[in-house]
Amino acid sequence: MTDRIPLVSDTDPGIDDALAVLLALASPEVDLQLVTTVHGNVELAQTTENALRVLHLAGRSDVPVAVGAAGPLVHPLPERAGHVHGAAGMGGVELEPSPAAVDPRPAVVALAELLMAHEPGTVTVAPIGPLTNLALLLAVFPEAATRIGRVVWMGGSAARGGNVTPAAEFNAWADPEAAHAVLTSPLPVTMVGLDVTLPTVLTEPGIERFRTHGGRVGATAAAVLQQYLDAARDSYGISGVCVHDALALTEAIVPGTLGTTRRDVVVGTTLGAARGQTLTDLRAVSTADTAVEVADGVDSDAAVEFLVSRLESYGA
Ligand code: BDR
Ligand code: CA
Repeated sequence: MTDRIPLVSDTDPGIDDALAVLLALASPEVDLQLVTTVHGNVELAQTTENALRVLHLAGRSDVPVAVGAAGPLVHPLPERAGHVHGAAGMGGVELEPSPAAVDPRPAVVALAELLMAHEPGTVTVAPIGPLTNLALLLAVFPEAATRIGRVVWMGGSAARGGNVTPAAEFNAWADPEAAHAVLTSPLPVTMVGLDVTLPTVLTEPGIERFRTHGGRVGATAAAVLQQYLDAARDSYGISGVCVHDALALTEAIVPGTLGTTRRDVVVGTTLGAARGQTLTDLRAVSTADTAVEVADGVDSDAAVEFLVSRLESYGA
């Protein structure tokens, strides 16, 4: 395939992050050229270690991993998500250490250099954690930021309320000031929020398929998912997992997978109950150049099938 989309994954692995990175690596439509890490589900040192190990699991230690922000822009995070993802972020599964070291450049520098080395409008950046790194890129390397072709962010919620508080989705809540800066910027952002990720549930038969047919990578991914499965059962009463981050990567891999509507979105940055809420103006389609493509349409069965079959392909 000649026209592979150059892709950067900005991630805080995290169980569904790991799945999303494995999905990208199994997808010939994209060329994962850089992974940047960020604080989020667990502390930065752990998300970075996990990113290295996930790439190694897939035999892709050649993909550079650059270390990003250790915390939110303004206010420290009161808690992380170890109760969902396991204390080390990989659902209690010990992945094999990678022989690779991290890239010596800070994440924003690595990202800026990558963007300057590509034609404007060609690179897709897929943040699947808090938006701290992207907000820093906007502030420090604005010229490089304007060269981004698409930002496909897993985060926020237009009409489904929150998952970490009644108002807020985790990635928005984990750095609301950064989310506000990015979502109100002219960057071409697609917001893949709870509106489309909550209905997209990977159930046990799907997991069994890549556990059985996906070789060592598929079997490991299935093992990592077990803790997430347990958390979903406790939190939502469902025997399946919402593959939040993998759905965002699916949209990055196959643009147009999700239905979207251009909306104005601002983020609650007060310290009260609305902190991290992605306030989405549902009254009208926006024509502003700062509008966000808010994902509001999904064929969940097709999206899950896409993920499962790509993970099965590791066994081929
Ligand atoms: C998001 O929060 C994190 O826990 C997941 O990895 C995902 O990015 C879902 O709200
Ligand atoms: Ca994540």
